[in-house]
Order: sequence, then C-alpha cells, then structure tokens
Amino acid sequence: MKRVLVSGGAGYIGSHVTVELINAGYDVVVADNMSNCDLTCFEGVKKITGRDDIPFIEMDCCDDAAVADLFSKYRIDAVIHFAAFKAVGESVAEPVKYYRNNLDSFLNILEAAKTHGGCNVLFSSSATVYGETDKLPVTEESPRQPATSPYGNTKQICEDILRDVVKAAAGYDAMEPGADRKGVVKGIALRYFNPIGAHPSALIGELPRGVPNNLVPYITQTAIGKRECLSIFGNDYPTPDGTCLRDYIDVVDLAKAHVAAVGRMLDGKMEESYEIFNIGTGRPVSVLELVNAFEKVNGLKLNYRFAPRRAGDTTAIWADPMRANRELGWKAERTLEETLASAWAWEKHIAGK
Ligand code: UFG
Repeated sequence: MKRVLVSGGAGYIGSHVTVELINAGYDVVVADNMSNCDLTCFEGVKKITGRDDIPFIEMDCCDDAAVADLFSKYRIDAVIHFAAFKAVGESVAEPVKYYRNNLDSFLNILEAAKTHGGCNVLFSSSATVYGETDKLPVTEESPRQPATSPYGNTKQICEDILRDVVKAAAGYDAMEPGADRKGVVKGIALRYFNPIGAHPSALIGELPRGVPNNLVPYITQTAIGKRECLSIFGNDYPTPDGTCLRDYIDVVDLAKAHVAAVGRMLDGKMEESYEIFNIGTGRPVSVLELVNAFEKVNGLKLNYRFAPRRAGDTTAIWADPMRANRELGWKAERTLEETLASAWAWEKHIAGK
C-alpha cells in the first residue's frame, strides 16, 4: 500500500484530505504542530474513517531533525504539504514569521524527501498567485502577478522551489543505469480557489481561531450568534450586484482533487514532471449571492450590512478548471447549497447545538 504524508493534516483542508486518502485505500501519516488547530478534526477523521490507528506525529516541519526522523521511520511515497501559515493580513504585519515558517517547512520536506529515497510532492497553492486580472476565468497559463502579501509570495516562491527541485531531479533521467536516483521527485501544485464547507458528517470542518478572516466562517458565526453582524466589504465593485466575485470550492470536492493528483503522480501518469492545476468550480458567485443562498438553504435570516471595501481584495476571480477536469478526471460535484448547509451543520456541531 502506498503511504502519503500529510503535513498540516490536522487542519481544515488537511483533515478532509486525510479522510479521502484513507477512503481511497492509502496509508496516511499525519504531521502537525497544532499551531492553528486542536485535535477536534483529527478525532473527527478517526470517527469518519473508523480508523484508530492513523499515525499522528505532533511536530513542526520547520524542525529539520524531526522531519528527517519522520522520513527515516516511514517509507513515504508522496507528501501533501499543507503546513503553512495562511492569514494574509498577519503576513503583511509579520513577514519574517511567514517567510521563515512557510519556506523552512517546505525546504525541510524537500530535503528529507531527497535524502530518504525520493518521493512525490503535492504543494498546496492558491489562486492568490494570479492576483488582479481582467482575463477571466484564469487558466494555468494565465500569468502570475506580483504577490500583494508575503503570504501570497510564499505560495509563489514555494511553487518555484518545487519546479526547480523537480527540474534538477529530471536531470537524473540522463544518468547511467544504476546511478543514484534518490532525488527524483515529481511535483504538482494545486491552486485552490476559495475552499468552503465541511464534511457531510459535520465531524470535521473549519475551526478559525479568534475573529474569522474568511467569509463563510464569519457567516456561520454570525448566524449562531457569536458575531453580531457580517460586514460585506464593498458593494460598489464593477460586478452585477456590486459585491466581489469568487469561485467557492467545496472542501470535500477539493480533498478529492488531492486524491486524484496523488494517484496521477504515483501511477506514473504525469505528462510533465511538474504540473499545475486550478481547483475550482468555474462558476463565479458574488458575496451577496452566497449570503442569500446561505439564508435560503438553511431557512434563516442573517444580520449583515454593507461596509467599505477591504484593502487588497480582488474584484473578481474564478477558475477555468478544464485541465483538472480532463487530466485528473476530477470535477467539483457538490452544489453551493449542499456546501453551505454543511458549513452550517458544522457550526452547530461545534457549538454543541
Ligand atoms: N468578505 C466579506 N466579509 C467578510 C469576509 C470576507 O465581505 O467578513 C468578502 C471579501 O471581501 C471577498 C469574499 O468575501 O470579496 C471572500 O473573502 P475571503 O476572505 O473568504 O477569501 P479571499 O478571496 O479574500 O481569500 C481567499 C483565501 C486566501 C487566498 C485567496 C486566493 O482566504 O488564502 O482566497 O484567491 F489567498
């Protein structure tokens, strides 16, 4: 059985990916330093999968000795690397913290992968790399724009690092038979659009610490009474209803894209040694549409008001997911309504209601 290391596997996306990997028959090792989560989701993963034996290693991927130790203990066929900080605003205030953490952890994984026999690497990237563009939807060929935050820059830099590492490894193909091919790594970067929602069991989901930065957790926390009022940032954008457009991708669909991508790497189906895929639905949804859909599907009224634009927001971005549809045989399946119902079920679950 092939073994996948999920770094940051106790977090929001990592826990959903762990479930889908196990459902697909992979052995999974989860590593997490718990800097942005507790054990709630990992416990949920165990319940959903009925597996009590998933190895969980509490460790920081910035600790090179710990990463090396993990690779010497387990034969790893592929790594899905999530372990990173992700708050855009905080990254602007504390760039060194972001560069240090997000780059060091990834470099340690790549180094250990090379030392311990080589493996495939899937990097958790973001649509943020496209920045503001008029050419929509964006394809993987759309040019990346200079990052507007250190967080976004770490995504671009890590994509480039992975591309370079894979390119160097491809040089081994020219080696004589029997030469040491330890470093050979195939890489995939998945560029996520806006992941939302929760597992249908409501046993795992997003657990933001403090005031949520993102739209859907802010909505669910307002609906449950933790927050007084949702501010919709800007209703004067050049969009049909004046609010921003995004491509909201269900987290379970997103998790399944990882399983498809890992399968492509491990089954030797990649056309290039480094590939990039947009993971989105291809459907733009405005903030107001999303709020209205949330109210309708869950039969409630949300307290919201229009507020000034939020600094740094892009007017509109959505994916052309054709490459992922075609090459990964993957497609977003859950409807926005199902996803928003799952987000609400999760909020009620964690509130004990
Ligand atoms: N929004 C509100 N009120 C809120 C929160 C958000 O109106 O309280 C709006 C934003 O202005 C934006 C939309 O909801 O128009 C989505 O905002 P999110 O913060 O949920 O998501 P972003 O699109 O800003 O950012 C997300 C991820 C980033 C990633 C980026 C890539 O959070 O990590 O997508 O496009 F880099």
